Amino acid sequence: MKVLLTGLGALFFTCYWADNFDPASPQGARVLLTGAIAGVGEELAHHSARLGSHLVLTARTEAFLQVVGNCRKLGAPKVVFIAADMASREVPERVVQFALDKLGGLDYLVRNHLGAAPAGTRAHSAQGTSGSCSHRLRVNFLSYVQLTSLALPSLTDSQGSLVVVSSLLGRVPTSFSSPYSGAKFALDSFFGSLQRELDVQDVNVAITICVLGLQDRASAKEGVGPHQALLSQGPKAALAVIRGSATWVSHVFYPWRFHVLCLLRAWLPRPRAWFIRQELNVTATAAA
Ligand SMILES: NC(=O)c1ccc[n+]([C@@H]2O[C@H](COP(=O)([O-])OP(=O)(O)OC[C@H]3O[C@@H](n4cnc5c(N)ncnc54)[C@H](OP(=O)(O)O)[C@@H]3O)[C@@H](O)[C@H]2O)c1
Repeated sequence: MKVLLTGLGALFFTCYWADNFDPASPQGARVLLTGAIAGVGEELAHHSARLGSHLVLTARTEAFLQVVGNCRKLGAPKVVFIAADMASREVPERVVQFALDKLGGLDYLVRNHLGAAPAGTRAHSAQGTSGSCSHRLRVNFLSYVQLTSLALPSLTDSQGSLVVVSSLLGRVPTSFSSPYSGAKFALDSFFGSLQRELDVQDVNVAITICVLGLQDRASAKEGVGPHQALLSQGPKAALAVIRGSATWVSHVFYPWRFHVLCLLRAWLPRPRAWFIRQELNVTATAAA
């Protein structure tokens, strides 16, 4: 029995950490990446450029020259930018059309943009801020859905990949994050269901949902207070997203310990709550 269990354990870990990533595969790929001029998106842009992908980058601001210049220096054969505020209903269509015109089709649609979500306390909802919540849902959920339906015909032709950058809080709810967590949960179930639908219809388009933890960035550092060691390294998270999407895995967990946490979430609510408090320093964040 011991030998059998050890063998099964070894098999599980070998499969889990098997690395099928071929760094040549993103070369020449046509990528539309949203929220590309800061944070995780900027790192995704840099890695994709280094790997030789053609890029259409989006964000609201025009302060894109530096990222575009960096991507060119890093080796991207083509980099173009379009200013796009995803709060507007017409914008996703304009963005996808622009990308199709510039690149002649799409192999990857990477949705990463994030409209800032205020902490979701009870007091906050009592003040009747449903308008601000629906604005966040438009940016952080509905625009993701719109971009998907507009890009899906091209991705079906190219047998491409839909990538959703999400968060641990889209799998495990915690306090003071309701607007953010709500949008991320909606993404998880929407794209989980779409994945099944594409499977049933034999449509060869991959969906990769990326469950990331707090990244080593200024905004995240404020949130975790003294627990700086818990922060993941941003560039490594971006690389994990690229590896996962290039190898068509359905979920990327970065860091990997979040996979365990998500598996345990229904069974062990108390340790889960403790773990999340450590990750987010919830008391300090709430008091701030
Ligand atoms: N940072 C973390 O610790 C962390 C942890 C887990 C998951 N994630 C996930 O990683 C993704 C990126 O997060 P981040 O922290 O890197 O975000 P960030 O640094 O705040 O960057 C957000 C990006 O989205 C763009 N953006 C903001 N509002 C927009 C709007 N209305 N329309 C279009 N673009 C908009 C921003 O550019 P403009 O302001 O110029 O528009 C920027 O390029 C998100 O999906 C987030 O949930 C992040």
